[in-house]
Amino acid sequence: MALLLTIFLLAMYVPSYGDAFVGVNIGTDVTNMPSPTEVVALLKAQGIQHVRLYDTDRAMLRALANTGISVIVSVPNDLLLGIGQSNATAANWVAHNVIAHVPATNITTIAVGSEVLTTLPNAAPVLVSALKFIQAALVAANLDQQIKVSTPHSSSVILDSFPPSQAFFNKTWDPVMVPLLKFLQSTGSYLMLNVYPYYDYMKPNSVVPLDYALFRPLPTNKEAIDSNTLLHYTNVFDAVVDAAYFAMSYLKFTNIPILVTESGWPSKGDSSEPDATIDNANTYNSNLIRHVVNNSGTPKQPGVTISTYIYELYNEDLRSGPVSENNWGLFYANGAPVYTLHLTGSGNVFTNDTTNQTFCVAKSNADSKMLQAALDWACGPGKVDCSPLLQGQECYEPNNVAAHATYAINAYYQQMAKSAGTCDFKGVASVTTSDPSHGSCIFPGSGGKKVSSTNGTALAPSSNSTNSGCLSQYYNDGSLTSYVILALILTVVVM
Ligand SMILES: *[C@@H]1O[C@H](CO)[C@@H](O)[C@H](O)[C@H]1NC(C)=O
Ligand SMILES: *[C@@H]1O[C@H](CO)[C@@H](O)[C@H](O)[C@H]1NC(C)=O
Ligand SMILES: *[C@@H]1O[C@H](CO)[C@@H](O)[C@H](O)[C@H]1NC(C)=O
Ligand SMILES: *[C@@H]1O[C@H](CO)[C@@H](O)[C@H](O)[C@H]1NC(C)=O
Ligand SMILES: *[C@@H]1O[C@H](CO)[C@@H](O)[C@H](O)[C@H]1NC(C)=O
Ligand SMILES: *[C@@H]1O[C@H](CO)[C@@H](O)[C@H](O)[C@H]1NC(C)=O
Ligand SMILES: *[C@@H]1O[C@H](CO)[C@@H](O)[C@H](O)[C@H]1NC(C)=O
Ligand SMILES: *[C@@H]1O[C@H](CO)[C@@H](O)[C@H](O)[C@H]1NC(C)=O
Repeated sequence: MALLLTIFLLAMYVPSYGDAFVGVNIGTDVTNMPSPTEVVALLKAQGIQHVRLYDTDRAMLRALANTGISVIVSVPNDLLLGIGQSNATAANWVAHNVIAHVPATNITTIAVGSEVLTTLPNAAPVLVSALKFIQAALVAANLDQQIKVSTPHSSSVILDSFPPSQAFFNKTWDPVMVPLLKFLQSTGSYLMLNVYPYYDYMKPNSVVPLDYALFRPLPTNKEAIDSNTLLHYTNVFDAVVDAAYFAMSYLKFTNIPILVTESGWPSKGDSSEPDATIDNANTYNSNLIRHVVNNSGTPKQPGVTISTYIYELYNEDLRSGPVSENNWGLFYANGAPVYTLHLTGSGNVFTNDTTNQTFCVAKSNADSKMLQAALDWACGPGKVDCSPLLQGQECYEPNNVAAHATYAINAYYQQMAKSAGTCDFKGVASVTTSDPSHGSCIFPGSGGKKVSSTNGTALAPSSNSTNSGCLSQYYNDGSLTSYVILALILTVVVM
């Protein structure tokens, strides 16, 4: 009996990678795509520690260097045929797009293609070769222990997914699935799965209740029960993940963990998508995050954590398709949240509430003389502490007027409790919700950073103040000492 029990437990054993985390996908089909530095500032302000990129954009990978953020990079589908047919092409790709960036950028995973079986079936025959060639290049570079290789699947490769215990992979793909699972098992990687209860709910003739898709509590008599296992399912997400476990065990693979590479809910849709609403998107993503970080696992694999990447960081206005395609994001391109997640009790996943977090920055086309004047004014009469801008201090780089002016005028704006008229500086400044912090230069007002109030001057440089500009002699190309001293003197005088 004890022996049988042991065998049973072994059969069910799926390794778990510690606590589950929530990451975010970063799609870039955005008209005014923020610069990599701005993207990283938003990630930092939101405490986002895990991202997936759909490519290996050099500037983005550089901006992510030395941030502690872990990164999934992707082989785009259009490179797959080449990489799957030539180990030299694969090795070359790894050298230029991965080895060139580690360890400064914490690349932890390579996603080879995206939903290849369902969107690019003609590349399916070389998919496993592509993974193996990339793995071989990692082994040669001694990076295979820290970087995993896998490929994200649409959950539509799983058939008969309810009850989960009867699920199996579409048999058309067994000639790819079986060697793929062998590869994932032998390299200690995970099955990557995109899980979209929204689409399950939206299917024609779907019997999925909205509450069940949104992780809302169901009356016990409405819970879905798998009649074979007697497991109770309270949400679609768990049922899909368990269907994937069962589909793997149908092919005799019982120890491959699952990573959910995409999940989310659109906040807006056209008339045929009435449930793509802000409320539903907020409910889904908030409940999803709470569910994932709770580490409760699924009914089949309790306690086996399912880390999940939310689709997606920004609304992608350039994607074609129904209106919902443009509205999966948590944020608009300017960094403003589309909605405020309800995350009470879920720890430090996202900074709870950024609705009131605003910054004052130099406009991108602003005249540099005007910016110089604004900088001088803020660090002088404005009584801002500009010492972080001194050479060797955290906000000295980049050493140009626009960057320094942005720091100073934002500090002034925060010091003035963001009151109306304190972010104008003769029209060269404007309010943004996107955190301009970068590297170790954390701007006042960012992520709860304390704003020291000096009970600033009454002469706010609002629109047509005549004060700005009169102190430009205090800024002479990088030497800020004089106006910092002036600011100190003024502070002493005030006190
Ligand atoms: C890289 O990311 C992994 C996974 O999140 C983490 O365990 C590791 O500590 C990170 N490494 C660095 C150098 O930040
Ligand atoms: C590609 O495969 C061939 C034959 O197995 C091997 O000799 C060669 O070293 C490989 N090249 C690379 C770049 O891995
Ligand atoms: C299985 O996959 C094949 C190839 O993509 C597809 O033609 C077929 O419709 C799928 N079967 C089901 C039941 O979806
Ligand atoms: C968190 O986990 C506990 C115990 O595993 C479970 O009772 C509870 O329902 C879970 N909460 C969520 C939001 O999943
Ligand atoms: C989110 O809010 C909850 C409750 O108000 C709080 O306990 C938690 O620390 C907050 N998290 C962050 C990252 O601010
Ligand atoms: C945001 O600011 C408005 C106006 O100052 C205030 O009424 C509201 O309570 C604030 N919201 C939060 C969550 O602090
Ligand atoms: C700032 O002003 C408030 C009231 O306007 C006062 O109570 C406070 O002491 C002042 N702080 C300083 C540092 O002067
Ligand atoms: C500031 O001056 C400009 C023209 O120089 C004018 O259009 C604007 O209305 C003025 N703003 C205020 C707040 O007086």
